[in-house]
Amino acid sequence: MNDTIIFKTQPKGKLTGSIRVTGDKSISHRSIMLGALAKGTTEVSGFLNGEDCLATIKAFRAMGVTIEGPEKGHVTLHGVGLQGLKARDADLDMGNSGTAMRLLTGLMAGQRFASTLIGDTSLSTRPMRRITRPLEQMGASITTGESGTPPLSIEGGHKLTGIHYDLPVASAQVKSAVLLAGLYAEGETSVTEPAVTRDHTERMLRGFGYEVVTDGNRMSLQGGGELTACKIDVPADISSAAFFMVGASIAKGSDLTLEHVGVNPTRTGVIDILKLMGADITLSNQKEVGGEPVADIRIRSAQLKGIQIPEALVPLAIDEFPALFVAACLAEGQTVLTGAEELRVKESDRIQVMADGLLICGADVTPTSDGIIINGGHLTAGEVDSHGDHRIAMAFSMAGLCAEGSITIHDCANVDTSFPNFIETATNSGVKVSRV
Ligand code: S3P
Repeated sequence: MNDTIIFKTQPKGKLTGSIRVTGDKSISHRSIMLGALAKGTTEVSGFLNGEDCLATIKAFRAMGVTIEGPEKGHVTLHGVGLQGLKARDADLDMGNSGTAMRLLTGLMAGQRFASTLIGDTSLSTRPMRRITRPLEQMGASITTGESGTPPLSIEGGHKLTGIHYDLPVASAQVKSAVLLAGLYAEGETSVTEPAVTRDHTERMLRGFGYEVVTDGNRMSLQGGGELTACKIDVPADISSAAFFMVGASIAKGSDLTLEHVGVNPTRTGVIDILKLMGADITLSNQKEVGGEPVADIRIRSAQLKGIQIPEALVPLAIDEFPALFVAACLAEGQTVLTGAEELRVKESDRIQVMADGLLICGADVTPTSDGIIINGGHLTAGEVDSHGDHRIAMAFSMAGLCAEGSITIHDCANVDTSFPNFIETATNSGVKVSRV
């Protein structure tokens, strides 16, 4: 356990008022990557000032891109064009971020120079062959560490050719790595996905004037075009909002509005799952900003019930399961999740780490190879280890609302990767959680 940052909860909070959570992580990363490679000046607002996205900014600055900010969510990128990046001798450190590493590898495969991508202890254990395999089929040369994990050394200087790739896993990161390499490839690059995954890369490429064709589950683009700078308004992150949706659902007397949340249909699985469980969630002010749908989301507390989670919703809620497991512990009846083995290769093994922590807190949970079985009941109190996983730490912060006693959560420093002011936002909305 890394004990530099410990959270402690107190029971009996309730969530009220209106809040805007931090900017969407997936969209923030992509805004830097495409803005850096566009021709002209891209203005980004609502940018997530979290460590993951700052790692992406740092990498592009290191490759010669002038980037101003982030200053109150505002970033200005002076794009260098698709061929304008400069070689960098030192390694590019992606920190804790799988998105930064996987998407950047796609882009680096198309450069004339070599690069090496490294990450922190968690990222250094995560599977990378899922991206190196298709990129090598396109002509890239990439060396991984033992067992296909980082560091990744990309030779550069190889001519890429478009391929068609059938994604073996429903992963937006793999889809995006291939499509981004496709910008540098000769001819058409296409992918088919086995289930719908987040489509921010496709939407944002179009926003930068690059044609991407989506035909059912097949996405394609032609190499050799160019990106034209644009304005990007990053909505609040539904994955960060999810903790508050669960918190407000389980804490009696809650009535909370989350403002300007991204509700791209490839991300709204958490709303669908909570509604199936009986949550009281309504959307208002629905509009589109810069190609992405947004809405205000109002959540009032409700008695949740256990459900069999439809597998089709799994990729649409992939980051929200730590929070959803907490909801299931406080629901009436049994919740069963299957088809979610991907959770085992996130920032931590989210099935095992959540199960371990929930068991400590008195829940009735049984992890399975691809999911979990949770019998709803009550939570007691306890001391849990987030294993440096931001979403585990925030999920247990919400569990504290309905636990009988206090929950102490260890190893919470990485909350800053996706939600830098989480404690303040949570406290302001009525969650009794503090740093100790
Ligand atoms: C992301 C895709 C998802 C998600 C991650 C962000 C993205 O990962 O879990 O937090 O921005 O493309 P996978 O593509 O591995 O499912």
